[in-house]
Amino acid sequence: MEKRDLLYTGKAKSVYATDDADRVVILYRNDTSAFDGKKVEQLDRKGMVNNKFNAFIMDKLAAAGIATHHEKLLSPTESLVKRLEMIPVECVVRNFAAGSLVRRLGVEEGIALNPPTFELFLKNDALGDPMINEAHAISFGWATAEQLAEMQQQTLKINEILSELFLAGGMLLVDFKLEFGLFKGKVTLGDEFSPDGCRLWDRETRKKLDKDRFRQGLGGVVEAYEEVAQRLGVNLD
Ligand code: TMP
Ligand code: ASP
Repeated sequence: MEKRDLLYTGKAKSVYATDDADRVVILYRNDTSAFDGKKVEQLDRKGMVNNKFNAFIMDKLAAAGIATHHEKLLSPTESLVKRLEMIPVECVVRNFAAGSLVRRLGVEEGIALNPPTFELFLKNDALGDPMINEAHAISFGWATAEQLAEMQQQTLKINEILSELFLAGGMLLVDFKLEFGLFKGKVTLGDEFSPDGCRLWDRETRKKLDKDRFRQGLGGVVEAYEEVAQRLGVNLD
């Protein structure tokens, strides 16, 4: 496999072509962004931690029968993945109220949500990733009804798998965001799963162990990500 031209630069990752038209390389950078790119900083080791963390989670999901784009780690900061045609709709599941849900509905942070909620957001930084519903996604052609049903089913199954995994490490999976794409027409999990795109609290103290430490200027961001990795048994060496 040969790494070729830069195809796309996101806020935290860059995507490179390879000599295989169906495979791309994802480079995890140290750039850390929040508020739709309005706050950006470089955090040492973050690219490496998220790359290895994501590989660990994607392997767990694949073992549980989820179709993911992940193929293998190539270096501390690079992974080889299937090239997906991305669906520009973000799937968010919440097990406890936090973040934009608290701001939108004026509810108290930390309230348990039974059953977990499922929300869709349009991936569009310029618009601040607005919340959308299925009718918007279908009518504007961002996804079909069948694809949305598959994305919801996969996201809720992933929530069950990962909530249990994090609980075993003494953590609550508060909420998370997933992105899907199509690989040869099949809905496939893409992007990443790392503490950049989810909320994780210590089960007992409710200490925040995710990107809210960066958003809220709490410090110890990468140290918290490393603690999460260590609690799950992710090898960061
Ligand atoms: P929210 O509370 O800001 O709506 O976010 C819910 C969860 O989804 C939280 O863990 C952060 C994650 N998320 C992203 O990482 N990127 C996004 O663009 C969105 C909308 C959510
Ligand atoms: N990841 C998104 C961004 O960088 C959303 C966020 O984390 O606030 O803006």
